[in-house]
Amino acid sequence: FAFTPANLVWAQGQITKYPEGRQASAIIPLLWRAQEQEGWLSQPAIETVADMLGMAYIRALEVASFYFMFQLQPVGSVAHIQICGTTSCMICGAEDLIAVCKEKIAEKPHAVSADGKFSWEEVECLGSCTNAPMAQIGKDYYEDLTAKRLGEILDELAAGKVPVPGPQNGRYASEPLKGLS
Ligand code: FES
Repeated sequence: FAFTPANLVWAQGQITKYPEGRQASAIIPLLWRAQEQEGWLSQPAIETVADMLGMAYIRALEVASFYFMFQLQPVGSVAHIQICGTTSCMICGAEDLIAVCKEKIAEKPHAVSADGKFSWEEVECLGSCTNAPMAQIGKDYYEDLTAKRLGEILDELAAGKVPVPGPQNGRYASEPLKGLS
């Protein structure tokens, strides 16, 4: 793994933001940029970041494996689907969404679908509990999901469309407060 020239310049700029001896503080942005470049974090990518920051590989791996925003296995070329399985979403139907992923993508989480387009996993609370159940797809939240709507979203993505993110039933959790302006 090697950063592209542009990403290398960017990464070096991030490292210089921290005082001498504290370069390891730049690990999250560098891991994130490496993942954006390759789609997931391979061992060589994590090793490259660790070397740039003067860290042991195991310390960088500890960070990469702690946050579920980092993918340590290849993901689908179109989208990686993260289904929230924590309490609010579980009560409101997360298991139905997981069933859709198993049927349309792959039986096991983190496996890539036969056509290479999708992968999925169950994750902990993504902070959108008022619009449960929900999923993060790429960088977007799709909320107030039903199994039917998730299936449609996967079909739309497979066809090259970008479904509109946000609440899928048209509601918003935070209506503007009246009388405060
Ligand atoms: Fe699913 Fe919080 S419980 S977003």
